[in-house]
Amino acid sequence: MSSIYGRNIRLSLFGQSHSEAIGMTLDGIPSGIRVDRERLQHFLNRRAPGRNAWSTSRREEDIPEFLCGLKGDITCGAPLTAVIRNRNARSADYSEFIVKPRPGHADYTAELRYHGYQDPAGGGHFSGRLTAPICVAGGILLQELERNGIRVYARILRIGDISDDSPFLNPVPDQAFPVVDETAAMEMQKCVQAAKDRGDSVGGVVECVLEGMPGGLGDPIFDGVESRFAQILFAIPAVKGLEFGSGFSAAQMFGSAHNDPFCIRDDGRIGTVTNHAGGILGGITNGMPIIFRLAFKPTPSISVPQQTVNLQTMTEETLCVQGRHDPCIVPRAVPVVEAAAALAAYDLLLEVQR
Ligand SMILES: Cc1cc2nc3c(=O)[nH]c(=O)nc-3n(C[C@H](O)[C@H](O)[C@H](O)COP(=O)(O)O)c2cc1C
Repeated sequence: MSSIYGRNIRLSLFGQSHSEAIGMTLDGIPSGIRVDRERLQHFLNRRAPGRNAWSTSRREEDIPEFLCGLKGDITCGAPLTAVIRNRNARSADYSEFIVKPRPGHADYTAELRYHGYQDPAGGGHFSGRLTAPICVAGGILLQELERNGIRVYARILRIGDISDDSPFLNPVPDQAFPVVDETAAMEMQKCVQAAKDRGDSVGGVVECVLEGMPGGLGDPIFDGVESRFAQILFAIPAVKGLEFGSGFSAAQMFGSAHNDPFCIRDDGRIGTVTNHAGGILGGITNGMPIIFRLAFKPTPSISVPQQTVNLQTMTEETLCVQGRHDPCIVPRAVPVVEAAAALAAYDLLLEVQR
């Protein structure tokens, strides 16, 4: 099992949804980085469950305990380890999924891979809960990137068939449900509520921008910036698609429209007039904002009846998933996307700083 990411910083995630704790170790984090704990907690609260209508009712405080790697509030150069205790687990809700795997979840593939030894409770190591330690690591690096003039911010671009095509130039003030256009935000919330009322779930798209990334980071072929971002972004459970810049819409364009003309910017540096490349050419940053979009599937655990197979009796059966689940993963995933992007960006930056 590989739960380790990064080349210059090494993020290791551990724990299961219902184990004593979940956590992370960040190895290779330089000394002297200040952790603003209040800001970090505020960031973690954006992801934490049980706080609003579009989240699971499993409430967790999600307060990280730092075991090592900090002297006061400043990294000391040793590996940084933090744990988050799991306080509100109801494992009985999950016992049946070892025999009757949930359609859309990892119960069946976990059985194929771990032969009955897997921990099914709360989704085990596959759970969206493992994104809390990603947010601890990423939340710290977001603060450090900001000190270095790099801003990372994400928004909800779409939920179901409702999208918000407003320009996205700054972080959205409503961090709990970050949608630029307020009318679209209300429609999206109604869509999530309607799915929830039907015992169903709904998917969506998150868009993320990284401003201030210097040009010249990354490598061609296998270690391109897209590949390195993709590796951590696809580690977020429920992510099914990723596009940079114009992404899939590039397939419908002509070169004359898609190429980003070079220009001299107000500050005298070279930029591009448009940014269809999403800040990356040949796997290397070009100094323009990195822009990407992630498609999230609808939450697999739904109470609408679905067909599954009973692995003991080898008969087809109907399953209605009970328990506490997010009717839409997207709002809680927004800070996770920012954290994952910060980890990828910081890992790239360390390559040239060393
Ligand atoms: C923040 C977050 C919360 C999630 N909450 C749930 C949930 O409540 N119920 C559920 O079935 N899946 C939830 N998921 C998705 C599952 O973890 C994921 O679909 C499952 O592990 C299978 O992995 P895959 O979808 O990447 O193939 C959540 C994912 C994230 C990122």
